[in-house]
Amino acid sequence: MGHDALAQVLRHLPEVTDKNLLVGTKHADDAGVYKLTDELAVINTLDFFPPIIDDPYTFGQISAANALSDVYAMGGTPRLAMNIVAFPTNLDLAILQEIIDGSTDKLKEAGAILIGGHSIEDKEIKYGLSVTGLVHPQKVITNAGAKPGDKLILTKYIGVGVITTALKNGKTKPDDVQDAIDSMKGLNNKASSVMQEIGVNACTDITGFGLLGHVMEMAEASNVSIMLKIKDIPFFPKAIELVKRTRNHPKTIKSNKEYLSSRVKMSEIVTSEQANLLYDPQTSGGLLISVSSERAQKLLERLFAAQVKTFFVGEVVSKGTPVIAVE
Ligand code: CO
Ligand code: CO
Ligand code: CO
Repeated sequence: MGHDALAQVLRHLPEVTDKNLLVGTKHADDAGVYKLTDELAVINTLDFFPPIIDDPYTFGQISAANALSDVYAMGGTPRLAMNIVAFPTNLDLAILQEIIDGSTDKLKEAGAILIGGHSIEDKEIKYGLSVTGLVHPQKVITNAGAKPGDKLILTKYIGVGVITTALKNGKTKPDDVQDAIDSMKGLNNKASSVMQEIGVNACTDITGFGLLGHVMEMAEASNVSIMLKIKDIPFFPKAIELVKRTRNHPKTIKSNKEYLSSRVKMSEIVTSEQANLLYDPQTSGGLLISVSSERAQKLLERLFAAQVKTFFVGEVVSKGTPVIAVE
């Protein structure tokens, strides 16, 4: 999350210049990268939010997978993590323990360690992590390197915002959306190590700004336009059903749409359900990878071999109007 109207304001943070700052606030990449030596840079990122799911252990797993994701998107290895906790005084502390257990188990899977954190009392639970990762300064992958002719690959299905909102409103049950829950719990570690091995031009992870928000950030940072093929975009079938059947959709769909739609051209073959899901805020979404057409097939094969869900969703073209076309 973290990419709503408020984040639009935070996007205009003062620009910082420092010869060792490799990625700062300028490119709307949501992690920062700072070079320590010629061989080593640190990646810093942070994310936290209220429970999107009732089961505390699962929420802890999803929070950690989500917080780790920026490090993977930049081609780094997560090493250290710190808790960010807001917790009501009237709730059973066993709930917090379960959240932290879920998170710690995910960190273990990622090979990162929890070294501390900070907690406050609050009316509503909020949980997340700040994560520090390591990367070689010359191997940092950002959203700014996409080139005309590149193929775009996405590594998770879209629609978890609509699904978690429906869960919250009692319009669906966890058992019916287990694939979406598993998707949010899933680390982007395998996709990240395969793309580092093959060599790619750009990457970002899909979070609260939705698929189109992150495609837009990549297009603008890379000074290109992007064409998406609607028939190739993987939507959770349940999300399509829920967006049609229910009335309370995530508010962020609307704000993302307001912010982005003037720069997006939707072909008339795109249904209104699909259009909504293209703006749907994702939690712990997949990686969006821009790779040269020469390396695309190999990347695809290696991702399949690593059992990463992989979809060609579009391609990068020279900068023009609109910035994004969905056809
Ligand atoms: Co983030
Ligand atoms: Co991100
Ligand atoms: Co403190």
